[in-house]
Amino acid sequence: MRCSLSSKGVQDWTGHVLVVGLLQDQSATALEARFPGLGAALEQQQFKGKPADQLLINRLGGDGPQRLVVLGLGPANGFNLEGVRSAAARAAKAATGQTGSLGLQLSWDGLEPTAAAAAAAEAARLALYADQRFRKAPEPRRQPDALELIGLPEAATTGLDAVAANCAGVELARELVAAPPNVVTPAALAKTAAELSRNYDLELSVLEQADCEARGMGAFLCVSQGSDLDPKLIHLIYHPEGEVKRRVALVGKGLTFDSGGYNLKVGGAQIDMMKFDMGGSAAVLGAMRSIAERKPTGVEVHMIVASCENMINGSAVHPGDIVTAADGTTIEINNTDAEGRLTLADALLYACEQKPDAVVDLATLTGACVVALGDEIAGLWSNNDGLATALQQAADAGGEGLWRMPLRASYKEGLKSKLADFKNTGPRPGGSITAALFLEHFVGEGIAWAHIDIAGTVWTDKGRGLDPAGATGYGVRTLANWICNLA
Ligand code: BES
Ligand code: MN
Ligand code: ZN
Repeated sequence: MRCSLSSKGVQDWTGHVLVVGLLQDQSATALEARFPGLGAALEQQQFKGKPADQLLINRLGGDGPQRLVVLGLGPANGFNLEGVRSAAARAAKAATGQTGSLGLQLSWDGLEPTAAAAAAAEAARLALYADQRFRKAPEPRRQPDALELIGLPEAATTGLDAVAANCAGVELARELVAAPPNVVTPAALAKTAAELSRNYDLELSVLEQADCEARGMGAFLCVSQGSDLDPKLIHLIYHPEGEVKRRVALVGKGLTFDSGGYNLKVGGAQIDMMKFDMGGSAAVLGAMRSIAERKPTGVEVHMIVASCENMINGSAVHPGDIVTAADGTTIEINNTDAEGRLTLADALLYACEQKPDAVVDLATLTGACVVALGDEIAGLWSNNDGLATALQQAADAGGEGLWRMPLRASYKEGLKSKLADFKNTGPRPGGSITAALFLEHFVGEGIAWAHIDIAGTVWTDKGRGLDPAGATGYGVRTLANWICNLA
């Protein structure tokens, strides 16, 4: 979808679908002037500009738009960028069935114009995403292929610069997460990284099982012992043009399927959804795609994914096994279903070898995080206030829910093992905090680190706002915007 600012107003915009937002009790006289009778139609529908109000008129005829949609935006004082996003997503959905261009006029007053343009354009494009890859006969989709924002000042146009790159990154992540576990395997993730490497000139290395063995990555490797698929450690690097001022590492959990292992997922543990357990890796791959296209200067970006499957056979790791991570730390596996942190331990150690200033990991790590924050907010843990604040700002600006959680040091007691340095799981209460504390142990001295638990936000069953039902692509925009803000 192409996005631009229109120099026309609602009075003279020519295109295919015109969507106009009205605040609560805002008058429709400007619209009435162009579409006589509209005021009466709004009145008849008792349209008050409430967020649920919507009027759609089709087949207008003449040489103006074929479809007119009027959206309620709610009260003027509560209308913000979140309102822009949800209205733009509703506008895009109301425009489906009609091809051509979509003109969108919202209430832009009081909003920063570049941010408003970015929010509207990203939301409209992301809301129109539909995944038809796995159908025998994809349904033909009729939808606008151009978005024109009406009523914004010329200066807002720079807000559109990153929209295509960010949305393509989100869509890549959604595709990877939604694809079934017999399609998106560790090898398939490595292949995706190879495609990015080729298309955008990124440096790629893939460590095979033997390479990981040679490095002593016993925590990562034990997880895939019971799988027929080989594990892959994928390392992709973005080198900026010119001088490198900062180096950051993005680490993603890449479990292409999580059966739980011998602590098998039973009852309501959603085993059939565990294809999404590579959502962290999808987010960092998507972010790399966005970053590679946006080309921030001064910052070198390392992406690391230790990908495998958690399965069961006669070689699978036993509950009770003790394994050794690459730094020599020994871990007693008291629960094979806490496998993500095992893979991340070696991935974080490897990431810290790259001597980054900051490391951020994204992982569908704990059900406990979903219990705490639901499916609209990811949990953030960090050993560094500056990094936490920067990530929080990037998430807020992009409309991705994020909430900082405590790294309560005393809870690390819960990970004490009688035999090994640690157990991999602590008590049920505070389960997402002990998971974060476990990860922190593997972060190098003096390196700023943040962990984002996306177990809830990776997927939406019903769809919400700009996310159609299914994989959300959560995290791509937060990471890409954070890194591009560093430039
Ligand atoms: N991939 C799961 C976490 C998960 C659960 C994500 C539900 C999304 C929805 C992770 O590997 C896991 O199984 N975690 C366990 C940890 C427990 C054994 C300490 C969990 O949360 O139950
Ligand atoms: Mn698990
Ligand atoms: Zn898992």
